Formats: sequence, structure tokens, C-alpha cells
Amino acid sequence: MVIITNIKKLVQVEETLYAKVCGADMDSLACIDNAFLLIEDGLIKDFGPMAQLPAVGANTDVIDAGGGMVFPSFCDSHTHIVYAGSREIEYIDKIRGLSYEEIAKRGGGILNSAKRLHDASEDELYAQAIERINEIIRFGTGAVEIKSGYGLNTADELKMLRVIRRLKADTPLTIKATFLGAHAVPAEYKGRQSDYVDLIINEMIPQIAAEELADYIDVFCEQGFFTVEDTERILMAGLHYGLIPKVHANQMSCSGGIQAGVKYGAISVDHLDYTGEEEIKCLLASDTMPTLLPGSNFFLAVAYPPARTMINAGLPVAIASNYNPGSSPAGDMKFMLSLACIQMKMTPEEAINAATINSAYAMDISDTHGSIARGKVANVIITKPIPTCAFMPYAFTTPLIGKIILKGILIFDEIV
Ligand code: NIG
Repeated sequence: MVIITNIKKLVQVEETLYAKVCGADMDSLACIDNAFLLIEDGLIKDFGPMAQLPAVGANTDVIDAGGGMVFPSFCDSHTHIVYAGSREIEYIDKIRGLSYEEIAKRGGGILNSAKRLHDASEDELYAQAIERINEIIRFGTGAVEIKSGYGLNTADELKMLRVIRRLKADTPLTIKATFLGAHAVPAEYKGRQSDYVDLIINEMIPQIAAEELADYIDVFCEQGFFTVEDTERILMAGLHYGLIPKVHANQMSCSGGIQAGVKYGAISVDHLDYTGEEEIKCLLASDTMPTLLPGSNFFLAVAYPPARTMINAGLPVAIASNYNPGSSPAGDMKFMLSLACIQMKMTPEEAINAATINSAYAMDISDTHGSIARGKVANVIITKPIPTCAFMPYAFTTPLIGKIILKGILIFDEIV
């Protein structure tokens, strides 16, 4: 057993479990001041005010939070962290004025990463990915979704998904895998996009399902990438094999991706930079989590999605890092909190809900992750002493995490 004592504030406590937080409710976080947290067998067993601290046996490890706060670990429901190399050449092209679409048209972008991935062995890819996993663990992430999508042929997509399977086995993170064969049309299929969609449906999906390599299926539904019709065909095929839909939707235009995702019961639709009244109405009538990726808006210097309008309309919102080499080479969820607050006018409470319980919902793990609740996985961050919850997004470059517990085990302690 492990007991954390002297917690200045235990943040995002759930007495009754809820799957997600919507609309006006996103602006509150239940907290207990001057609290303790008891962990047994990797799960949260109990919590309460220090005045009710239970007597514990000699074999219980006591961790004194020393006046720091305890938050549930971040859940990052949209990443592409298995990739080869980096793309800072394109970063310079962007600085010089080229857009993401122009870079993609010149064979840069996703196709550039696909070339590099093809040339990397599974072990090389794994070695690079584990570095990024260790990085996000230090940033306070406890659960992450990772997509394929830089393979773009059957062998390389399988290679990526096998790396994700190894990461699942080797790290203390909770990991969900998403098959994103429809991330870009490979050069050799230029002009015969539907043949590539056939390959995804007839060859890739059955093999991935046979090896149980993915939980979700995703499509980049966007002008110049995949049409609504392609998206629907792929999602339907994935569903046939038990893969739950997710969609990259409305990143660069009103692509129809939100409606397509909702129609096929997507657990989340992600990006949503172009979201109008019609899309909001469609989302309100669904169980799909709108997921915003402010790291890409920051990095590409493009307008942010209308988070305020969405929340004011009663929608839930999740945020994720979109850690990838092209549009968001960053996995720091605390920085995503700051972007949500500063750029999307979300309150700190809304941003914290978006990065924890709602992002857990977008990975279908909100019954076990994303809040401090009895029986949930003991994934928590202990901060250094901070004055308020709002200090987390406010101090936007200060490393505030003092200790990290994943699955009940203390895996990082800055104070040692
Ligand atoms: O979510 N939009 C599509 N995919 C990624 C970018 C991937 C890349 O450029 O390598 C994204 O932004």
C-alpha cells in the first residue's frame, strides 16, 4: 500500500463516476483541501481530508506531498509518436511562408515521414518512440493514444503497430492503438486513390484485426487527403472488424468529417478548426467527443477551433497534444492546458477537465482513468508547492511536477 499525505489540494475528485463532463459543468473541478490519498494494488483505494487519515500498517509506503497538489495524470488521446527522424526542414519552410498544404503537395509532410519510416527498422523506430514515451511520462501523461499512419503500405503500417504493441508491454503508460492507414495517399497511388482505399479495406484492416494490433480506426478526412465517401467506406470496414472509429476532421476546411464520424459512432472527432453551427448541432446529438489539438494551431500559426462556442453550446471538449513531426512536435500536456486557456479562452478548470476525464473518454477509458475516484488506476501527479490549480496553465514553462505515480508505483521523484 502507498499513502500520500499532506496534499494541499486533491484535484478532480469523483465520488460518483461520470464518463465525461459537458458544457457549463466543465468549469468546475471537485477538490478536497488538505487531503490524503490511499493506493492499493495499483488502484485508488480511498481519499479524504487529513483529519480522517486512516491508521496504516508498517508495510505502507508514506509519500509526503509536502504541500504540493495531486492531480490525475493527463490523458493524451491523440498522438503520432511512433515516427522516424524529424522534419525541421519543413519548419524552416513554414517560417519562410509555405503552408502545411503546400509542403504536403511538394512531397513533404506525411509522405516525407513515410519515406523515413520505411527506411527505419522496427528496432530503430522503437528506440526513437520509447524516448518520446519517457519524455511524455515526465510531462505527467499517464495514458496515451498512438496512431499508425506513416507506413502507408501494409508492411510498414504493421511495423508501426507492432512498435506500439511493444510500447504497451514495456512502459507503465496505458496505451491505446489506432490504425490510420488513411493518413495520406502514397505517391504510387496518385490518381487512383480508390485503389489505395481498397488496399486499406481488403488487405490492411483484416491483417491488423487478425493480429489484434489496433483498438481504433482513423481517417484524415480533408481536401487533398480522403473524401467523406472514402472515410465512410473505411470506417464501415473497420467497424466490421471491431475497430471503433475516430476521425481527423475539419482541420483545414468544413470537410464533412465531423458528420461522417458521428454517423459511424466515432468515439472522437479531432482537430475541428472549422466547426460551425451545423457541426455543433450534429455533435450535440451524439456521444462523440470533440477533441481539440491546440499544439498544431500554435505550431502552424493558424486560427484555433471555437472551443468557447462549443462549450457554451453544451458540448464536452477534450484536448490532446497531437505529438507528431509535422504539425505538433510536442507532447507537453501542461503546455496544451496553457494554449487552451490563453488561445481558446477556456478556463483552467475547463482545460483540466478537457485534458483528463474528457480525453480519457476519447480513449474509452474514463471508467478507469482521468480522475481521482475509488477503484480507478492510481495514475497521479504530485506537484511542487503551488498556490492554486490555475497556476498549472499560468506558469506555462515552469516544470511543476515533483513526483509521478503510475499504476500505483512511484516512477519519478525529483526530490530524491
Ligand atoms: O494531426 N493532420 C494530419 N495528421 C497530423 C499531421 C501529421 C504530419 O504532418 O506528420 C495532424 O496534424
